[in-house]
Amino acid sequence: MKTDNTAPKGLEDVIIGSSTLTLIDGHAGTLSYRGYDISDLAENATFEETSYLLLYGDLPNVQELRELRQNLSDEREIPPQLVELLRGFPNDASPMDILRTSISALSIYDPDLHDYSPEAMLRRAIRILSKTTTMIAAYERIRNGTDVIPPRADLDHASNFLYMMRGDAPEPAVARIFDKCLVLHADHELNASTFAARVTASTLSDVYSAVTSAIGALKGPLHGGANEAVMEMLEEIKVPEKVEAYLKKAFSEKKRVMGFGHRVYKTIDPRAIILRALSKELATKNGGKEWFRISYKLEEIMRTEKKLSPNVDFYAASVYHMLGIPTYLFTPIFAASRVTGWTAHIMEQYTDNRLIRPRADYVGHHPRKYIPLAQRK
Ligand code: CMC
Repeated sequence: MKTDNTAPKGLEDVIIGSSTLTLIDGHAGTLSYRGYDISDLAENATFEETSYLLLYGDLPNVQELRELRQNLSDEREIPPQLVELLRGFPNDASPMDILRTSISALSIYDPDLHDYSPEAMLRRAIRILSKTTTMIAAYERIRNGTDVIPPRADLDHASNFLYMMRGDAPEPAVARIFDKCLVLHADHELNASTFAARVTASTLSDVYSAVTSAIGALKGPLHGGANEAVMEMLEEIKVPEKVEAYLKKAFSEKKRVMGFGHRVYKTIDPRAIILRALSKELATKNGGKEWFRISYKLEEIMRTEKKLSPNVDFYAASVYHMLGIPTYLFTPIFAASRVTGWTAHIMEQYTDNRLIRPRADYVGHHPRKYIPLAQRK
């Protein structure tokens, strides 16, 4: 029975609570974290400063940033039992499945899991943020049959992440591009994974359970999984000359083109503009011209034919690819950044909690009488 207060399908435009974290203006195509425009942050702030901003509410001063860096660095090691767990997984598993399982397992080793004080919550957020990179990198090394590389205390968060995955410290220019990508992915209001995290937190379950829920939601191709699907599409297209034919076929088969469209943005996603510039820059420097040209052609045709603009996942794909990152790590890297936003939202949820428990509009059978098994047709 339809009632007047039934929410729109997919909760489109439904405001379910207040937040001081992130503001999106879908019509203007703007995004800000705690009042700072995303382009200002991407241009000027490091991921560490951005994390501090999201977790503590303001940009850090020199001393506060130093302390955050130290805390992140102190938390990089993961328990040896977890490394053993990672070694036991098959080499061809989905790194997102591995990450979901490892975050869940990490809770068992948290020294103060049941301390919900604000100080313990912040410690835990930093712990999860730091160890997420180590777990992703360790599994990447294990799946390739190479040694797990211990973290380096002298490197910043982004450089150390790349170092643990690859075995050598990145060039400063590469590290800065990767760091910018992390800034761009750090938070995005009540996207599906953040909502999942807040729903779990609203039952007063623990942070690891909430982050595990979020990772499960992020994995899907309509959300974070889209960046991997974009790269698969670019590889299938191969050359810019084949873009038109590819899209014609996709349109006739009514297929979704990954990396386009957004629930909130009615114009281009501001993060896509920044990533498009990075993709172009890398294409010129690193000889990946074709990836940028294919992407740009896709963008042009999608805009004229479907009035759809790229979202964050679209140009992130060619950027990561040109940074030499394997496609199966794109979504885990998204998670490694978004964990900052998830934990900031979880803390906000705990601060002013009420159980999130909506209703369903029942459209099933009218009342029926139980029929004993032997009498059923
Ligand atoms: N390709 C083709 N058609 C599309 C696409 C697309 N990527 N996105 C939307 N449409 C069409 C859709 O078919 C529908 O047309 P019609 O009204 O004729 O049936 C119309 O646009 C509205 O689509 P919708 O599914 O009702 O829109 P939504 O707000 O529910 O979905 C979305 C948003 C992001 C799931 C969707 O645009 C999509 O599937 N995009 C591709 C996957 C993707 O790139 N996801 C990443 C999202 S942003 C970053 C992140 O969360 O990771």
